[in-house]
Amino acid sequence: MKVLTVIGTRPQFIKASAVSRVLRERGHKELLVHTGQHYDPEMSQIFFDELGIPEPDINLGVGSGTHAEQTAGMLISLEGTIQEYQPDWVVVYGDTNSTLAGVLVAAKLYVPVAHVEAGLRSFNRQMPEEINRIVTDAISNLLFAPTETASINLHKEGVPAERVYIVGDVMYDAALQYAAKADRHSQILDNLGLRSREYILATIHRAENTDDSRRLSSLVEALYQVASAWPIVWPIHPRTRAALNRDGLLEQAERAICLIDPVGYLDMVQLEKSAVLVATDSGGVQKEAFFYRVPCVTLRDETEWIELVELCWNRLCPPTSVENLVEGIRSAVGTIGCEGNPYGKGDAAQRIVQILTRHS
Ligand code: UD1
Ligand code: UDP
Repeated sequence: MKVLTVIGTRPQFIKASAVSRVLRERGHKELLVHTGQHYDPEMSQIFFDELGIPEPDINLGVGSGTHAEQTAGMLISLEGTIQEYQPDWVVVYGDTNSTLAGVLVAAKLYVPVAHVEAGLRSFNRQMPEEINRIVTDAISNLLFAPTETASINLHKEGVPAERVYIVGDVMYDAALQYAAKADRHSQILDNLGLRSREYILATIHRAENTDDSRRLSSLVEALYQVASAWPIVWPIHPRTRAALNRDGLLEQAERAICLIDPVGYLDMVQLEKSAVLVATDSGGVQKEAFFYRVPCVTLRDETEWIELVELCWNRLCPPTSVENLVEGIRSAVGTIGCEGNPYGKGDAAQRIVQILTRHS
């Protein structure tokens, strides 16, 4: 089987690493296409180095821009690439502009396309990711849902059941694979002078939080206040660094919070596993907190990963006011949730490759 994988952003490198490994172990051919959406070494190359993903066969070098500029650049470059390689399957991951470009080009070339992490919905069409998810799921041939809830969402949208497979979450595969390696290799706690269970890990990068100056300043002020009780470490996404600079908030944040550049996966896993609490607007980080049974507050109005809220490992904490945030974050420290794991058995990648093989 010949698979063309389209990836371009940090979480996609992590998701694809699990599937790429199985594809190659089983002797399938994979052309790895990096759109270039993320390009800073700490947003891209570090994951190829740490996760043993082969270097991309092609990097389209699209880079940053408006949604239209970025997606259009990918569409144009991907068309020739897919035509030339003639894969049995194009595989796309998640909900980014790289996902959207991959699925659109493949579908119009009549090349079968599979979506990994299908069926996630926030039901908020203000999110660019929600638009990407809806379009991707509507035109993919095979939909790999990570959870029962995701599969139900697809069913409610009228997606035929024979296109949908609940396979578990490839991020859980990666978490199982790398947890022990992170323990062995990461020095980040020592390097930052952090003690296990004595700090909060924060990440913020969603457009709704970074593009909106009011929400961003509430988030910074709230973290600033919480930092008087708990040390906070915050690896900063480049989008967020730019937004903090734009709004003159960087200095205030730096006075109380340990701001660091984005870290590699092993350091991130270590920071997540040892935190007393994770406060994030990231989809992947919400789940990883749960994989390591660390309580999490989601700094958003809603979450796609609703099971985590139902299991009480995650609480929604909308950045509507500083008071709301401070209370939400402080009160979540020390909470624990219920038993259960809706994300499968850590064999999602194996199941995906088996199903793709069966359908080729
Ligand atoms: C993208 C995804 C988002 C995902 C996130 C993962 C879309 C619409 N959004 O958001 O769903 O959660 O990736 O991290 O696809 N930048 C750099 N260096 C880089 C990459 C980005 O400086 O290597 C800066 C640029 O100023 C860029 C901004 O970050 O304009 C935003 O990058 P972009 O890829 O457009 O969106 P993300 O916010 O990263
Ligand atoms: N991540 C990382 N280093 C960081 C921040 C995040 O390795 O500094 C990892 C994190 O462990 C998770 C993924 O990146 O696996 C999540 O990506 P991100 O938050 O950028 O995007 P989202 O999941 O929200 O789409």
